[in-house]
Amino acid sequence: MHMLHPFACTPLLLTCLLLFFGHIGCSQTSTETRNLLPVPAQVKWGVSRFVLKNTWRTQLNAPVTPDSAVRAAAQRLNTWLVQQINEKRLTPEFTSSGAADLTIRYGRPGRMEAGDEERYSLRVTPAGIALDAPTSLGALRGLETLRQLLTKDKKNFYFPEADITDQPRFGWRGLLIDAARHFMPVAVIKRNLDGMAAVKLNVLHWHLSDDQGFRVESKTLPRLHEVGSEGQYYTQAQVRDVLRYAAARGIRVIPEFDMPGHATSWLAAYPVLASNDSTYGVAQRWGVLNIAMDPTRETTYQLLDTLIGEMTALFPDPYFHIGGDENDGRQWRRNPRIVEFMKTKGFVTEKGQPDKHALQTYFNRRILELVTARGKKMVGWDEILGAGLPPSAVIQSWRGRKGLYEAAKAGHATILSNGYYIDLNYSAATHYLNDPLPADAPLTAIEKQRILGGEATMWAEFADSVIVDSRIWPRTAAIAERFWSPATVTDVPDMYRRLGGISALLETLGVQHRRAPEKLLTQLAAGREMAPLRTLASVLEPVKEYKRHFQGMQYTTQTPLNRLVDAAPAESDAAREFGIAVENLLRLRQNAPQTAIALAAEAKVAAVAVATPLRQWQLNDALVRPLLLAQPSLEEYAPLSAQLSSISALALERLRQMEKGEKPPVAWQTAALKQLDVAKAPAGQAELAVVASVRKLIESK
Ligand code: ACM
Repeated sequence: MHMLHPFACTPLLLTCLLLFFGHIGCSQTSTETRNLLPVPAQVKWGVSRFVLKNTWRTQLNAPVTPDSAVRAAAQRLNTWLVQQINEKRLTPEFTSSGAADLTIRYGRPGRMEAGDEERYSLRVTPAGIALDAPTSLGALRGLETLRQLLTKDKKNFYFPEADITDQPRFGWRGLLIDAARHFMPVAVIKRNLDGMAAVKLNVLHWHLSDDQGFRVESKTLPRLHEVGSEGQYYTQAQVRDVLRYAAARGIRVIPEFDMPGHATSWLAAYPVLASNDSTYGVAQRWGVLNIAMDPTRETTYQLLDTLIGEMTALFPDPYFHIGGDENDGRQWRRNPRIVEFMKTKGFVTEKGQPDKHALQTYFNRRILELVTARGKKMVGWDEILGAGLPPSAVIQSWRGRKGLYEAAKAGHATILSNGYYIDLNYSAATHYLNDPLPADAPLTAIEKQRILGGEATMWAEFADSVIVDSRIWPRTAAIAERFWSPATVTDVPDMYRRLGGISALLETLGVQHRRAPEKLLTQLAAGREMAPLRTLASVLEPVKEYKRHFQGMQYTTQTPLNRLVDAAPAESDAAREFGIAVENLLRLRQNAPQTAIALAAEAKVAAVAVATPLRQWQLNDALVRPLLLAQPSLEEYAPLSAQLSSISALALERLRQMEKGEKPPVAWQTAALKQLDVAKAPAGQAELAVVASVRKLIESK
């Protein structure tokens, strides 16, 4: 089916005419986002729909050299549609001629490189759907949009009438998965690739080596995986399988082999790499170890060249990440031979001290030569930026936005990760409002073009293969929108509304961010009634940033991540929704003249929305306490449950005062605020996420 004028003779035309006569141009792009995430560049909604019938025919108009990825993606969409519709009444088929429900056309196979075209147009009319794109990559992105358009009413599944033209704001939209700190089996990577594809992310940055593990089979330097992985590594066949899986979804895979620091696992395998005469085991503890390779020996570069040769051949992406972060050079300064080398080469500061940065830049330049000789572009963390680093190196900025701008000014292509550290357990909104290229960025037009995009980083000290999905999703979808959608798309409440829908969608695709914590709670409940434990977990969050390292528990690589803190969401929906209800109530009270009856009624409804969860939380302690006290692994959370009950009672008391038009008595308020200070204290590396909102209630006049 070919649609020259997709909206001709449809009810939309009528709407347009009506809108026209009502002085609203029908060509105007809608800001209505519905369920789409990321929001497309341009959407015009119609008033009609394409209703799914028993047959669902897809026609693929492939170019001269067809790209099997698009057909496979259409096939996956079909399978998913059948699953969603759930009544076995949908029979998908591919057709090469005649009428089709979905017609996909694209110009050429997309090149799996940064910046190849991903734009597409998607037109849904009652008569059929047309997806057009210059490349297969655009067709893949458009199919994901179509998936998100699927809607159900009482009788039917349908796609709403729409005319979408879409393209990404940034060509580099990544997710880093750290498979070194905790090994992430192939199935974990694959299901997260499905999640990435669903929200149009296009780069998997695979962090494959660190102090705690070297995770890829090396045929040239086998001790790297034999010794360095402690048995947990990807075979090269598995790597190729993942690469195929990613490519089929239009996702590039960039491997990271972190050097010269974050490399203790390499030193365990090849002690010749070390900067001193120590021998090392694979690291079992977390933290910045400041153990580094010896950058002065030629044997180091010979070994690295062998590995780079092998790994650049295994990973086809044009980019190759060498890490380069967090080495303070203490091992270099403590080795007289290395200090002598630095002096000989003139790597000294103005005060004549050995200059670690100069030595690391020397190392980076040597590695850059090796990587470039293999036809690859080198990427490194922002520490590699330094005088003398050629502009062909790509800089990934994690320590601050400053590094991003400095890199762009110095001529480097750059990627932003600062502000997208999802392992810190910040809210989706925090990440969402962090723009790689804000309007006030102090850069020229050419410098701005060097900002390729950004990456969310899933560092895995506190995420194993079971719960990692729940640390990535759904928050990473908000970041994906920041990378894809126009800069003007910044409505936080609307983002959260859509994030709820995407979160559910992701589970249908196999991502386990909801299932896995639920399973963990089931295990923790050990056969007892689970609902009260779920209620408690739903208002907890793990402590933010890296505080988990410093709260009384010594984590190692062997510490199981199966406690209540691990089942708690990185961002509590219940707490966020409660926060909105509190804000709403306080706003209504502030704005409303006390006499306005309608508003008073609205405020009553708002008060119920606040009181309902509070009552549940107040009563929950009695229900969950027997379980917490019966399970040694849960006992540490008993104080949080008790505090939740206490502060809920205080908040309910404040609501009663409000209802009677009373101000909070001063002594009562003082005592209540003290109680809130106590409730803020974490236990078991988790904290109550509702304290700040309860405080607003208690403090309100
Ligand atoms: C980093 O977080 N050390 C790149």
